[in-house]
Amino acid sequence: MKKIYLDHAATTPVNKKVLDEMMPYFSQKFGNPSSIHQFGQEAMEAVDKARQQVADFLGCSTSEIIFTSGATESNNMTIKGIINEVKSQKSKVKSHIITSSVEHPCILNSCKTAEKEGTEVSYLKVDKDGIIDLEDIKKTIRENTILISILYANNEVGTIEPIAEIGEMLKKINLEREKKRLPKIYFHTDAVQAVNYLDCNVDNLGVDLLSLSGHKIYGPKGVGVLYVRQGTKIKSIQDGGEQENNFRAGTHNVPGIVGLGKAISLIPVETRHCLVSTTGNKTEKIKKLRDYFIGEVLKSIPNSQLNGSKEFRLPHNINMSFKGIEGESLLMMLDANGIAVSTGSACSSASLKPSHVLTAMKIPPEIAHASIRFTLGKNTTKEDLDFVLKVLVEKIRRLREISGM
Ligand SMILES: Cc1ncc(COP(=O)(O)O)c(C=O)c1O
Repeated sequence: MKKIYLDHAATTPVNKKVLDEMMPYFSQKFGNPSSIHQFGQEAMEAVDKARQQVADFLGCSTSEIIFTSGATESNNMTIKGIINEVKSQKSKVKSHIITSSVEHPCILNSCKTAEKEGTEVSYLKVDKDGIIDLEDIKKTIRENTILISILYANNEVGTIEPIAEIGEMLKKINLEREKKRLPKIYFHTDAVQAVNYLDCNVDNLGVDLLSLSGHKIYGPKGVGVLYVRQGTKIKSIQDGGEQENNFRAGTHNVPGIVGLGKAISLIPVETRHCLVSTTGNKTEKIKKLRDYFIGEVLKSIPNSQLNGSKEFRLPHNINMSFKGIEGESLLMMLDANGIAVSTGSACSSASLKPSHVLTAMKIPPEIAHASIRFTLGKNTTKEDLDFVLKVLVEKIRRLREISGM
């Protein structure tokens, strides 16, 4: 049976060029970068090269790159690290942070923990497309606000948030705050889903911190990055050795770091200079496939709808609801036909609760439960999508018959 993988937002296969680059660092060049001898130095050179590749991509200095075990760790580091730094100054004022209601669970749950430990957290609402309102952010800022964390592109519905606009607005707000001697508000973005397709130059975005992950960009799992702008006051959350400038203790995952560096260096240059989408390149090709599939599904399947923004949407994301069916049942049927898709995010799809993202977009629970996410990849073809469409039409008809719709 032919297998069609349409779950690239959950993870991507490792690119052959990436794998080739990683291989020597498992057994031939296996040194620990913290060792002084030649084995160690050879490994450290590889880590340094990867650091340069990431810095080139983000448009920052190598000293601002922290390698982590993935974006979950980078996001935890951000929320906990910024709060802990303020706590360490023994300030009597409670800190306040702002995030959105559509973040990945690793941000939302870090915020919940912070709340239990006394930090005030505001969760911004989104509109029906999942987009945050700048005025809302402005109104939510308080004197004790120390951090705003907003994801760049949503992992479930692919909605792109106005990160550069928020960055621009915050620059002005921070200038005013400086005059009043109020604490600087740091700006973090979880860019995990954006890296393949959107400009991630940290100065263009105006961010102080940015998280990304290896396995979403045709690199390995278990490795990520936290970009921390020079001068950002943040406390380490892990005790141990002196790796990563004393900020992130733990032996470097050398093959993983090498792989992440290579994977990021392979992202087409034109992607790096556009804020929403690119034309005449690979991004455009995948976007055309996305729009073709959405159009065909809406035409062929009555009572179907697209969730998320049409305009501000990642080029590979299709999130649709099919009235009268259960997303999980459809997922199983598609899987039995060799088609891999997802309901909501990979991390929360085991839960029976409707997606928090669709709920925040005011999509009724029965429509949220009837949603499926298809995320295309660089090898997805029109033939793949035509086959998926055929199976989809047939299985939805069958499921609707069973439910008596
Ligand atoms: C938006 C977003 N943030 C964070 C993560 C977590 O990344 P990692 O798997 O590297 O911990 C994911 C992965 O699904 C994601 O999509």
